Amino acid sequence: MSRIHILDKSLASKIAAGEVIERPESVLKELLENSLDAGAASISVHIIEGGKRLIKVVDDGSGIAAEDAPLAFLRHATSKISTEDDLEHIMTMGFRGEALASISSVAHVTLKTKRRGEVAGTSIVIEGGSEPAISDEGCPEGTSIEIKDLFYNTPARLKFLRGAEAEYGRILEIFKRIALVNPERRFRIIHGSGRALDVMPGNLRQRITDLFGVDPKQLIEIDTPDLKGFIGTHELTYPTVKYVHTYVNGRPVRDRSINRAILEGYGQLLDPGRYPFIVLDLKTPPEDVDVNIHPTKSEVRFKNTKYIYDLVKYAVRGALTAFSTRPVSYERPQTFRAGAQTGRPFLAEQGERYSPSIPIEAPLSLQFEEADEATKNPEFLGLTVIGQLWGEFIIAETPERDGTIYIIDQHGAAERCAYERLKNAFASGAVKSQALLLPERFETTPDEKEEVLSALTKLSEMGFEVAAFGPSIKSGGETFLVKSVPDILSGRASCHLVKELAQEMAAFGGSSKVDEKIEAALMRVACHSVVRGPRALSSGEAQALLKDLSKVDFAGHCPHGRPVVKRISRGELEAMFKR
Ligand SMILES: Nc1ncnc2c1ncn2[C@@H]1O[C@H](COP(=O)(O)OP(=O)(O)OP(=O)(O)O)[C@@H](O)[C@H]1O
Ligand SMILES: [Mg+2]
Repeated sequence: MSRIHILDKSLASKIAAGEVIERPESVLKELLENSLDAGAASISVHIIEGGKRLIKVVDDGSGIAAEDAPLAFLRHATSKISTEDDLEHIMTMGFRGEALASISSVAHVTLKTKRRGEVAGTSIVIEGGSEPAISDEGCPEGTSIEIKDLFYNTPARLKFLRGAEAEYGRILEIFKRIALVNPERRFRIIHGSGRALDVMPGNLRQRITDLFGVDPKQLIEIDTPDLKGFIGTHELTYPTVKYVHTYVNGRPVRDRSINRAILEGYGQLLDPGRYPFIVLDLKTPPEDVDVNIHPTKSEVRFKNTKYIYDLVKYAVRGALTAFSTRPVSYERPQTFRAGAQTGRPFLAEQGERYSPSIPIEAPLSLQFEEADEATKNPEFLGLTVIGQLWGEFIIAETPERDGTIYIIDQHGAAERCAYERLKNAFASGAVKSQALLLPERFETTPDEKEEVLSALTKLSEMGFEVAAFGPSIKSGGETFLVKSVPDILSGRASCHLVKELAQEMAAFGGSSKVDEKIEAALMRVACHSVVRGPRALSSGEAQALLKDLSKVDFAGHCPHGRPVVKRISRGELEAMFKR
């Protein structure tokens, strides 16, 4: 690494100024970035009291030369840029020479560092921006830095910090964000005396699994010269944008336009208010992106925004399309219970005309018990099914000569039926639950733990038996077991679903919204109980679905508010052809 020097006034004035350190999380981000710039292969972090008492980062990077070490704490002192031209070509995480100066003015700092191959190292102690106390120190190669009692001398800022668990939650989030995009390096974090997360060098797919426990089968790789990473399938979604990890040349950034491009790429595959799992690193020439627009370096400006937007949108769309059109063989699900076997031969029964492009994991939930439900929509009983389009829509007609054509969205209809059924069962306190053969376990961050704990009672009313199992080493919160699930899920447990439900119920806030929370949660369960994507139905199956539709209090919409049925009268059809 080059020598540390003070930037000249003119260059220093061109650097985006402002508050760099807002809370423990921002300290950790700066320290991790310094370790990355120093070429560390292994970085370990020790946190006490959510970072309010201690944030310690130890790396095995280049170290700092003894004569440079005191300079590192001066404003605009950096080894990473020298000229204005350098500012146009930034490939390092740091460039402002600002972070250590800011941190050391609001905390007690001890730095120990030794360059590779040198005999002695250096120790520097600074107390809240005081003159540095420097001494020789026998220490390992690399750098270790301890930040104690953050904001001890700025009570106004100290007041704004949240509890230790909440601050640790944020720390863990930035730690994961950075560890995620550097899978070739080892990262460790320990909170207090117990909880630790330790991820070994490997590839990105492995790193995603290590950090988030995501099933690799739910990830689709994007690997082009400009864009690298993974996107989740449309089944892996969350109620927050927190799992959208975007980077520019390895730098974590939040960019509305990139986020919009991602959502556009998914299009109709995402329900409103749901966000996907994303890890995408944009590889752009440094001169095409300005990283010097925000004091915390978390925002960037692209020279050609439209190009970036299209690049991301079409890469996401292309990856989803390629994934959904993978050739798979179609096997009729064994467990499917068809309804009345009436009607004409059907497309699916003609075999070769239809081959679904998405693997079928479980049958559509069409069949419900014959409870004493009154028929609410007799119109559906009188229909004759004439066919199925693309494995997704049922086409049916009314018997009269001048009748009406019905186009029914299979997935929306099945979801609607499941939702009605579940809502009624919930209202009467009789949701049937099914014990899982093997309980499934999932881990939570401190924030998620609170969400799950506060939702336990409602979850059990919905048919989910979830129990706390002990602290989660990996995520910092709690490990939970899912022991039973509502029977409409046919024994399919989804830890992901349980987390979503807890988040959904927590995200609404005030108690007056309880009904809305429950409704949204029931919709989600209903949504999970049916299978998405194209699926060939036999005539009997299609008729059974119509029969179920006739029984629900049917407002013409699926639980997500999308229409389920479109009717076209003979008159409308004739008008289309100007007859
Ligand atoms: N862990 C480390 N290993 C080696 N050198 C380091 C380390 N941390 C800091 N340095 C040296 O100290 C200098 C000052 O660090 P500081 O984080 O304040 O500024 P910067 O990284 O250059 O820019 P920025 O303010 O954008 O982070 C760096 O330029 C680097 O030379
Ligand atoms: Mg830095």
